[in-house]
Amino acid sequence: MSSPKILITGANGQIGRVLTEELRKMYGQNAVLATDITKLDATNDPFEFLDILNKQRLKEIVEDHHITEIYHLAAILSANGEWNPAKTWNINLNGLLAILDLARDKELDKVFFPSTIAVFGTTTPRINTAQDVPLLPSTVYGMSKATGELWCNYYFNKYGVDVRSLRYPGIVGWQSLPAGGTTDYAVEIYHAALTEGHYECFLDENTRLPMMYMSDAIKATIDLMHADKEKIRIRYGYNLAAMSFTPAEIAAEIRRHIAEFKISYKPDFRQEIAASWTESIDDSNARNDWGWSPQFDLPAMTVDMLHHLKPMLQK
Ligand code: SER
Repeated sequence: MSSPKILITGANGQIGRVLTEELRKMYGQNAVLATDITKLDATNDPFEFLDILNKQRLKEIVEDHHITEIYHLAAILSANGEWNPAKTWNINLNGLLAILDLARDKELDKVFFPSTIAVFGTTTPRINTAQDVPLLPSTVYGMSKATGELWCNYYFNKYGVDVRSLRYPGIVGWQSLPAGGTTDYAVEIYHAALTEGHYECFLDENTRLPMMYMSDAIKATIDLMHADKEKIRIRYGYNLAAMSFTPAEIAAEIRRHIAEFKISYKPDFRQEIAASWTESIDDSNARNDWGWSPQFDLPAMTVDMLHHLKPMLQK
């Protein structure tokens, strides 16, 4: 098979920035086209501006660059999404439908769609949450992702679009900042520990959520996209897990390296969102079907985060 020509939407988001770089390392700089609504700098190149709702532009880009695969990361996250539900639904769901239509019409090789633990809701069993469980998401973001999962499944069954999907937990990385999510605290806390010595957490101290280190999230994404087609039995978002922790536990782990670090708690509307998600995930399908296994737990992640962020933040 010839080398893929990849399009990434939302390339300048939290995951997009790291995934773009990783795919460029694998396939070469010019094999990966970054697209987003804002451009970072020349390191973004090759880059095209793309509003995901502009179908004509999307089609032109795919044609002009002879795209064979799309990683569709553009979306509005759980907390930000609540400020404008209609816009969030439009971008998250109609953006995906535009990608799926194009993949079908242009017979693209593969599409990646990131789903999330936000598809779960208060009717979902909270511990070791299985793949097929009741979904009653509390946020528009979660609604759009749960519905998006169904559309992915439909396009695979009905049109043979090779779309692959993961339910990411909260993602923590030093390379980029998340924007507008409920799990963002787990990134902010490392920055605050190194710069302020104190963090005011917007979640309650005992709110346990599934989380994953960025390098594991990138590995999972690339492993899934590289897996043999016959091994992919689930087209509506594989459960994916690495670790689960509470704000109190991550703070205690940071304190093992920065003894004077302090945390205080001032829960806001995001607490209710977090409380509607589950605590831990059963990802045995991903492990069995395509060999998923994570490398980082909370202690290892904390060492790596502080190692990378320290020289960046304490110049
Ligand atoms: N990290 C996301 C959020 O908090 C969940 O997928 O919105």
